Amino acid sequence: QPKTDSNPKPPKVLDEDFLGPAQCLNQKYTWLSCSKVFCPPWRRCIGGQCVCKMPYKCPRLKNTCTLDGSVYYSMCQANAISCRTKTPTFSHFSSSCKAGDKVHVSVSKSHNVVEIKTRLGKMLVCGKDWNMAAANVVCRNPLNVDRGAENASKIKYISLGKATQWPNECMRIRCMGSELSLAECTIHNPEPITANTEVAVAKCYKEPTGECKKFICVNGKCLGHEKTCNGVDDCGDNSDEMCCQKTDKARSETQCGVPNMEYEYKQDDHHSRRKRLAGWEETLPTQIQWQVAIQDEGLFHCGGAYLGGCWVLTAAHCVRPKPKSFRIYFSLWKNHRKQSTTDIIPVKNIIIHNEYNPQTYANNIALVQLEEMDVSGKCMQDNPAVRAVCVPWSTQQFQPNDTCTISGWGRDRASTLKWANVTLIGDCQNYYKDIFLPGMECAGDLEGKVDSCQGDSGGPLVCTDASGLSYVWGIVSWGDKCSKPNHPGVYTKVAHYFDWIRFYTGWPAVTKFNQ
Ligand code: ARG
Repeated sequence: QPKTDSNPKPPKVLDEDFLGPAQCLNQKYTWLSCSKVFCPPWRRCIGGQCVCKMPYKCPRLKNTCTLDGSVYYSMCQANAISCRTKTPTFSHFSSSCKAGDKVHVSVSKSHNVVEIKTRLGKMLVCGKDWNMAAANVVCRNPLNVDRGAENASKIKYISLGKATQWPNECMRIRCMGSELSLAECTIHNPEPITANTEVAVAKCYKEPTGECKKFICVNGKCLGHEKTCNGVDDCGDNSDEMCCQKTDKARSETQCGVPNMEYEYKQDDHHSRRKRLAGWEETLPTQIQWQVAIQDEGLFHCGGAYLGGCWVLTAAHCVRPKPKSFRIYFSLWKNHRKQSTTDIIPVKNIIIHNEYNPQTYANNIALVQLEEMDVSGKCMQDNPAVRAVCVPWSTQQFQPNDTCTISGWGRDRASTLKWANVTLIGDCQNYYKDIFLPGMECAGDLEGKVDSCQGDSGGPLVCTDASGLSYVWGIVSWGDKCSKPNHPGVYTKVAHYFDWIRFYTGWPAVTKFNQ
């Protein structure tokens, strides 16, 4: 497995410049400040604040079960209701829509171990995926001032001792951090615990005695300065990350998710005939402006998606921690053949997810950091045929049955970049059983009509929202053969890696406006 230890750990904060200018800090921005960031789908932006939407304004999508056993039209609607009532309503856990699907969460007196009680019994939370976002949710009291957790940590099961009867199964839980209760997070099937399994520990925040001499969050929480601007929402309202200076400057000048229409259909090559190939269609020369091709030792095996600035997103299995052997081709159309807009850029650094598993394809995600051109810090010349795609910030932005687009130079599709529409598929565990893991998403169809294939890996699955902004919802990862019935293509679910991405790229990569 590749070593990625050379990549930076959270930056140590020493100087005041780091937190950002006073004018910014005085604005008291939080994750609900929509002059700065996007609102989640169940809120709308009024006067700079994300306020709860009227539930009827939500689209009718897929019925959603709730904790009290009732059914709503969509996750947006269920969340809009819990937003207004300040009571957790929505549950990812249940599929049966029975009131018995309630999730009780508690933190044990000894060791602060997180315990979760469902109809499957009492269980611990697995240490894998456990982070500050989830700990904030555990400690959240929606009816009170919400200050979340002091910290999130892990403990080896064996270190818990035998004094208490601890459950012997744990559930992996992934949260975005904005959920009102753990039931809204993605909860996976129970896993057996062994002596060395790490389980989740949360220390909820307690008001310090005396005055806060450190950073004061917008919600009043007192934080050590080392916790600010580290890409982690330590405040619980993200106010420790909203003004930070130490971000990728070059990225902050770019917008995302909107192609350059002026350039979209201009051709500088001969006119293309659009051949159809089982749902795939030939692109025009500069149609998919965030698509890149990754060249490794002179060979092309993979695609990628341009996030703006100096950042390209791809699959971990497409890269090795050897930046010098890679070149990124922007605005490539015909494989191997440059067009006038093509730009070829060397690579400075490759960041592979540290829990990427090449056997299971778990966490199959990597960031490619491009080499800067000069002291300007920019990595490429302005290019009308290159635009960045947005990073999704919520796992609920798109839903099963939504139509999205894949693109690539994959197997048997001749040498021109092609694109195809695919449908997001929920409940993919039904088709892949245990090999479908957290952080994966299926797309395509069950008849085996349209699918990505060898050579498309690392390339984007892009979904476009109602306002026309495009997001890289998935990364082509794996599948059982290609276009095999009941075995749709499997993609890395990018929204699950929002925190991981923004840790390396900085906040502007995922915020609405530039800093
Ligand atoms: N792992 C393949 C690659 O390296 C991608 C396979 C995608 N397969 C599928 N059936 N969608 O190119």
